[in-house]
Amino acid sequence: MKVKTKKGIRDMLAVWMEDDAVKMIDQRYLPEKLKLFIAKDPDDIHKAIKNMVVRGAPAIGVTAAYGMAQASISWFDIGKAEKTIKSARPTAYDLFHAVDHMRVKIKEGVDPLEAAHDYALSVINKCMAIGEHGSRLIENGYRILTHCNAGALATVDYGTALSPIRVAHDDGKDIFVYVDETRPRLQGARLTAWELFNEDIPHTVIVDNAAGHYMQRGEIDIVIVGTDRIAANGDIANKIGTYEKAVVAKENNVPFYVAAPVTTFDPNTENGMAIPIEERPSEEVLNLNEKRVVSPGSTAKNPAFDVTPAKYITGYITEKGVYSTDDVVIMFD
Ligand code: MRU
Repeated sequence: MKVKTKKGIRDMLAVWMEDDAVKMIDQRYLPEKLKLFIAKDPDDIHKAIKNMVVRGAPAIGVTAAYGMAQASISWFDIGKAEKTIKSARPTAYDLFHAVDHMRVKIKEGVDPLEAAHDYALSVINKCMAIGEHGSRLIENGYRILTHCNAGALATVDYGTALSPIRVAHDDGKDIFVYVDETRPRLQGARLTAWELFNEDIPHTVIVDNAAGHYMQRGEIDIVIVGTDRIAANGDIANKIGTYEKAVVAKENNVPFYVAAPVTTFDPNTENGMAIPIEERPSEEVLNLNEKRVVSPGSTAKNPAFDVTPAKYITGYITEKGVYSTDDVVIMFD
């Protein structure tokens, strides 16, 4: 991804491995500071994922894959490393897929570093293909709504939901992106807007509750979001608030697309209601800039994801093409 710095434009990945260290952009400090986080062992990997140094399903998967490679190279107990890494966050299927993939590769005697690099590269290539397929849905002049951050930061490079937007922009289409701020952690305002700024893609940030207003006025032509897990019936889990956007999109005849690599598809989870939904600390809701804004006598609930039933989804943009719910269900049957 392109990153504008005082010294010029840098080309960066969200996560990579150098020597024995897993390095990543510390997303907690963006857009104010471009800082790196260096993970040296499975506990660091666990902390990085849990505390959202790195976040977004595919990027979590790649971090986990590198974490498994690091554990193997450094002679940590692989069974223990697997448990530590898998327990970091419950919703993103890529985390479990990546760890299982690496366990198999390590067992087969494949060089762990090579296996993790291959995994990362395959995620990047899938995101590029998602961009090519998805960009065909974006017409010249389109105003696009996206929720949370499903960009390069969430996937190592290119993104899922943001990849078609990048390609459409690179193809010279005149597009405009509405970015939901995404309370409480502001992944839209802090991360998606930063990525679009770095790529010179025209955009504006709106509060989460404004999306319906713009759809009702016919000012949004398409919604594209990412997902943390696609259940066997096509239901998806994505950042809290996605469900509402999908319902309002249907009400206003705005097509609603979900972009994801097939590694996000979990054939063992029957439907969306069976997807484990992470509950994050209430402080994320009670505080603003680490200062409490809610009266001391009140509590807060903080589900990080919600479930969008398949009936609200117009199509799934994958590296293999764009599928309807019926096709996607058959494809993974
Ligand atoms: O809590 P986060 O920031 O990890 O949530 C991320 C999302 O909800 C993304 O939309 C999803 O992981 C897809 S990332 C390409």
